[in-house]
Amino acid sequence: MNFFIKSYGCQMNLYDSQRIEDLLLSKQHSKMEDIEKANLIIFNTCSIREKADDKLFSDLGRANLLKQTSKEINFIIIVAGCVAQSRFQDILKRCPYVDAVVGPQDIQNIPDRIDDLIQHRDMDTLVLTKLDPKDKFEKFNNIFSFRSISEFLTIQEGCDNFCTYCVVPYTRGREFSRSVQEIVSEAKNLISRGCKEITLLGQNVNSYNGLGDDGKNWRLSQLLWELSKLSGLKRLRYTTSNPKDVDEDIAKAHRDIPILMPFLHLPVQSGSNSVLKKMNRKYTREKYLDVVNMLRDYRPDMAFSSDFIVGFPGESDSDFEDTINLVKRVKYSQSYSFKYSPRQHTPAAKMDNQISEKIKAERLKVLQNLLNSQQSEFNKNSIGKIEQVLFVKKGRNSNQINGRNEYFQAVTVNTDKAEIGDISNIKITNVSTHGLIGELV
Ligand code: SAH
Ligand code: SF4
Ligand code: F3S
Repeated sequence: MNFFIKSYGCQMNLYDSQRIEDLLLSKQHSKMEDIEKANLIIFNTCSIREKADDKLFSDLGRANLLKQTSKEINFIIIVAGCVAQSRFQDILKRCPYVDAVVGPQDIQNIPDRIDDLIQHRDMDTLVLTKLDPKDKFEKFNNIFSFRSISEFLTIQEGCDNFCTYCVVPYTRGREFSRSVQEIVSEAKNLISRGCKEITLLGQNVNSYNGLGDDGKNWRLSQLLWELSKLSGLKRLRYTTSNPKDVDEDIAKAHRDIPILMPFLHLPVQSGSNSVLKKMNRKYTREKYLDVVNMLRDYRPDMAFSSDFIVGFPGESDSDFEDTINLVKRVKYSQSYSFKYSPRQHTPAAKMDNQISEKIKAERLKVLQNLLNSQQSEFNKNSIGKIEQVLFVKKGRNSNQINGRNEYFQAVTVNTDKAEIGDISNIKITNVSTHGLIGELV
């Protein structure tokens, strides 16, 4: 069939979408960039905030229109991912034209089930929502097509933290770490296809405890050391880290592993201890600042990014001030910030003192102004410096090439002397709206 796949949400979803794509291609289906040319539409969905859910339902309306007007005998619409898991009943009720609803731990079964869907066109919507990831990765092993110099590699599924605002433990299930051997073999596969940078993925990668070759469960720092030995791999990153699990071994790894980049996404969510407690984040602002300082002690140039939620139930003006103060102390290089969005089945949705939209919007604006000014400050500090940039793709203009420096800032260079995949010394000459501009030295 001619398939079109759209991925919403986080990098773990993107990784899953790429695996679905690889599996479909290996079964002789063809990928379409244009939804109107497809007769198999897959939406790999995200449920993290309400807006994400809404987006799916509007995209589904459009897909149904295409289905109704199509001349194809077989036209299949599949909803995969986190909304499929958390709201499959709503989807069945509201969108009877959807052929299959498949949660994140069942996506590997999509290609096998397409033949069923074709042969039994009048069957009820297929629902696959088991929450056990054990057989997920077996099906992916060894069928990777080359995509980019920089690739994602999921090392862990699910989450056991149950932050009170978050749907992920309900959509991706319990925490599960892949074995070291499986991860190393996938990394080798990616490298053999030309990948130079790998970002390890999990909702909580610092609690990684996959089976090692010695029969023991390994920690993230051990895995990083193992991967750093692979020849051909130029850069290693990992995300997302929960501050409560970052230990000294990780800080040492940032000092001692040359290919481990000095940039860490370390979401704090809030700078107020009382809000952090209600969020069930299991760390205090003091502990968070200790972690930041420890990492900077071992790796002084370490840059940090973070996620923030404003307007969590009960957040007072002074709680919000605590967040602002914390931001001023850490000085982030980039950030993501969101208004709290109540999610079905989560404890925070039922808490008293929900904050009004107006206050959420006001606080978000104040926070984002500060974060944006920190980001431009960080960018401006690079001007005049010589930085190592890994080129990942061609730029918009013919002699332009785009890459990232070690701190994950986007860098654009006008040159025809650098190739995708090169790491070059670049003198930063200016800042742009999206990052840095530099020249080859
Ligand atoms: N596992 C990661 C985060 C995954 S979700 C961690 O613990 O840091 C990505 C981000 O979405 C979160 O860091 C949080 O800032 C935001 N988020 C999650 N649930 C949310 C909600 N209900 N409302 C608003 N933002 C939310
Ligand atoms: Fe959600 Fe918290 Fe798990 Fe992150 S650590 S995925 S925010 S429950
Ligand atoms: Fe969204 Fe699921 Fe990722 S809810 S953020 S796609 S884990």
